[in-house]
Amino acid sequence: MDTSPTEAAAPATAAVGRRRLLTGGALALGGALAGGGIGAAVADSPRRPGEERSAAPAYGVQKIPFHGPHQAGIDTPAQAHGVFLGFDLDAGTDRAALGRMMRLLTDDAVRLTQGEPALADTEAQLAELPARLTVTFGFGPGFFKAAGLDDRRPASVEQLPVFSIDRLQDHWCGGDLLIQICADDPLTVAHAQRMLIKDARTFARLRWAQRGFRRGRGVQADGVTQRNLMGQIDGTVNPELGSDIFAQAVWAEDGPDWLRGGTTMVLRRIRMELETWDAADSKAKEFSIGRTLDTGAPLTGTAETDPPDFDAKDRLGFPVISDFAHVRRAHVSDPRQRIFRRPFNYDDAPAADGTPDTGLLFASFQRDIATQFLPIQRALAASDLLNQWTTPIGSAVFAIPPGCAPGGWIGETLLG
Ligand code: HEM
Repeated sequence: MDTSPTEAAAPATAAVGRRRLLTGGALALGGALAGGGIGAAVADSPRRPGEERSAAPAYGVQKIPFHGPHQAGIDTPAQAHGVFLGFDLDAGTDRAALGRMMRLLTDDAVRLTQGEPALADTEAQLAELPARLTVTFGFGPGFFKAAGLDDRRPASVEQLPVFSIDRLQDHWCGGDLLIQICADDPLTVAHAQRMLIKDARTFARLRWAQRGFRRGRGVQADGVTQRNLMGQIDGTVNPELGSDIFAQAVWAEDGPDWLRGGTTMVLRRIRMELETWDAADSKAKEFSIGRTLDTGAPLTGTAETDPPDFDAKDRLGFPVISDFAHVRRAHVSDPRQRIFRRPFNYDDAPAADGTPDTGLLFASFQRDIATQFLPIQRALAASDLLNQWTTPIGSAVFAIPPGCAPGGWIGETLLG
């Protein structure tokens, strides 16, 4: 699903050819062409989007295929920017209307992800650089009710129980329709967001928009585990993309027929209490997670990928990784109970006194929320040291339908 090296290589080669013409080649031709010859030719020749005169990789032109058995934006290596849009369906939006809406939105997504403008796109040029754009659709519990198909809703796609740690704010919760838009460029995300909202608004009203980000593409090598805004290396123990463990954990293979090849998403908006986190010393911070801050290694190891030794004791006989450390509480050994975490950071405008509005848009994908996400979340809610510094303030759940073939549309297996 990710951009293949060949896809990435093509624009780079074109750019190198052009660069040679612009620098070395042009200088060698020197005076013969000076005074209007090659200079004028270069200035006049059309510049293709993403074609760069610098040595920077042309990430803007990279595309992720839209069509396939699974929707993109799940097993796609996380892009630098993302926005999650939650919509409430208008009263009277029935199964037929939902089918029309999903055909329209799928068409927009197919075009935009492939670098083509949406139909009636008023800023068509903004579509030219997809930058690995993916658009992923999800259906909340209200979607099934509106369609008159509540009997086909996966049982665990229902509002989560309220946990003792939750301080949920209604305006960050729920939603009948989800659109997750991710790309390596914030302008691309903003344009896709606008086009999709425009086409959704005949059927639905925006309930919330949650914007997030990770490191800019190219700032670190692709695949390096990133830090979150608490400074922790976050994402080490996660099913590997494309692996059997990933497939087992994420893609639905039982439950309602229409969901095969799809999955479910839990989105939690988790505020980070950075003011008190800043006051903690690094030992306390590491103790609460069970991993070090500098390398992300477990407290029983030296490298990030060392497996944690949950049995190891210190010289006083206490566990090195506390019984209440985040990684111990969240750890599951049965691969079928694992979840796939694909979070984005958020950092909205601070309060007037400077208090940050910062946290994690914690997106987790799993075949089944009840048997995978919920046991982990319950264990964390019961006694995770990290809870001192994190507060869930938003919560939403969605069924994520499978992908579709060219000519098909997302949701067809349910609504068609
Ligand atoms: C702001 C909230 C959170 C922060 C800052 C956070 C941070 C971290 C960090 C630093 C790690 C260790 C490195 C890694 O393996 O990724 C980790 C591991 C993990 N977290 Fe979280 N986390 C948060 C919330 C959650 C939630 C809500 C869940 C699930 C309900 C969760 C599930 C996990 C899992 C499954 C692991 C891997 C555990 C293992 O080692 O097997 N986390 N998290």
